[in-house]
Amino acid sequence: MITINIKVFDTKEQIAKEAAQMIATQIKSKPDSVLGLATGASPILTYEALIEMYKQNELSFKDVTTFNLDEYCNIPKNDKNSYYTFMHETLFNHIDIKEENVNFHDGNAADTEAECARYDALVEEKGGVDLQILGIGNNAHIAFNEPSDEFSKGSYKTKLTDSTIEANKIYFTESEMPQYALTMGVENICKAKSIILLAMGEKKAKAIKNMIKGEITPSVPASILQSHSDVTVLLDKEAASLL
Ligand code: GLP
Repeated sequence: MITINIKVFDTKEQIAKEAAQMIATQIKSKPDSVLGLATGASPILTYEALIEMYKQNELSFKDVTTFNLDEYCNIPKNDKNSYYTFMHETLFNHIDIKEENVNFHDGNAADTEAECARYDALVEEKGGVDLQILGIGNNAHIAFNEPSDEFSKGSYKTKLTDSTIEANKIYFTESEMPQYALTMGVENICKAKSIILLAMGEKKAKAIKNMIKGEITPSVPASILQSHSDVTVLLDKEAASLL
């Protein structure tokens, strides 16, 4: 049986340091690595740690390619709350990554199916994701794959659940929280060669327990990670409290 590698830390800073070290090791061993990146609060300190490594000349992203997991529909690309803006403000504007190497779904594409097919084909063309960073939703969603009757395959347009809208709407002070997003599918995500999932706080404890100890079921999207051969889960004590 495959076992998920679980590491529990005292502080968020320690989680970020560990994640950033793992990402740095990946980039140093393959400078043209393809990274899968996540938004949300969980990876922010990790991105800060990567920026610090870049500033100290320990790490370069000049040949790195990134694919973000998801993007909201029907808000402008440059909206304050788009994931495009989040990633630029939180990471890309502060490192030497090339803008042409950062990739997002176009949440405003007229033909969303064609846009999703384009995105998935581009990931394949670049050789697939070497290392995927993931957060987890309170309902165990990964990217924007909400609890469902079946695991999704490729990228698709999804309707966000009330739980996700509730958790994310705090960020939307000036505009309405979107109800739809384009997201990589569960099968897409699991094609990554290795995966790091970050979770902090007691709000995530139940999702973490169900993901690791429960059965593999699309009603707990993150549980699919039990079937992946290289997953590391970095937790604080609160998120690990029900394990
Ligand atoms: C959003 C994102 C996910 C992220 C989740 C948890 O729904 N689409 O990729 O993992 O939020 O976010 P946070 O890290 O802020 O708890």
